[in-house]
Amino acid sequence: MRITVLTGAGISAESGIATFRASDGLWEQHRIEDVAMPEGFARDPALVHRFYNARRAAAAAAEPNPAHRALADLARTHDLTLVTQNVDDLHERGGSPEVIHMHGSLARALCASCGERWDAPAVMSPEDPCPFCGARATRPDIVWFGEIPYDMDRIWDALGTSDLFAAIGTSGNVYPAAGFVQHAARHGVECVELNLDASANARDFDRRIIGPASETVPEWVKSLTS
Ligand code: APR
Repeated sequence: MRITVLTGAGISAESGIATFRASDGLWEQHRIEDVAMPEGFARDPALVHRFYNARRAAAAAAEPNPAHRALADLARTHDLTLVTQNVDDLHERGGSPEVIHMHGSLARALCASCGERWDAPAVMSPEDPCPFCGARATRPDIVWFGEIPYDMDRIWDALGTSDLFAAIGTSGNVYPAAGFVQHAARHGVECVELNLDASANARDFDRRIIGPASETVPEWVKSLTS
């Protein structure tokens, strides 16, 4: 059975990493236009680096939870394409062999001048010169609003050729990820949502499993492998 899974901030919530749209979420404390758009980076790169340095530290201090580890187990028994909107590395540290980070990764840095990428240091600043071209234009390798997510051709192909699509811990507010369920459904793929409550695109799923991911995901994986 071929499975495509999309994860969002909710899968890392029980590891202590803040989600975006909860009452105490990141977008309640920071303006998207300041820290998650190219214009904000151009205006104040130091602010943006401080924001992602804090998120990089939070990710480093967090541990994978049973949901991350269950998806690593699933990759051992099924043909799994794991796509995440998250920029933390908890899927990798939970044992997943391959993760598509469609919104980029805190672990990578990007030069806004020459386009080269490299492993990000724990703390980045606007004064860091690009190790390839020397320009002081280094930024986190994060896909900001208005930018094109990574690996979309591969993701659309996986969605259209899977037997099962699952969205885990995502509010269904941000496209193109929020449109994955409609694309899968158009290709006759069974769609299931695992979340604490109904997401914005809940009506597009065939099934919903409500509860905390650290409980529902291991149970769901077990139901697939038994
Ligand atoms: N278990 C399962 N689901 C959970 C849990 C949990 N323990 N805690 C929270 N959730 C769910 C919430 O109900 C919500 O539906 O996770 C979802 C988190 O939603 P958001 O905070 O909007 O995060 P996400 O959907 O990943 O955001 C998508 O928006 O700002 C951009 O680039 C950013 O990748 C992000 C994208």
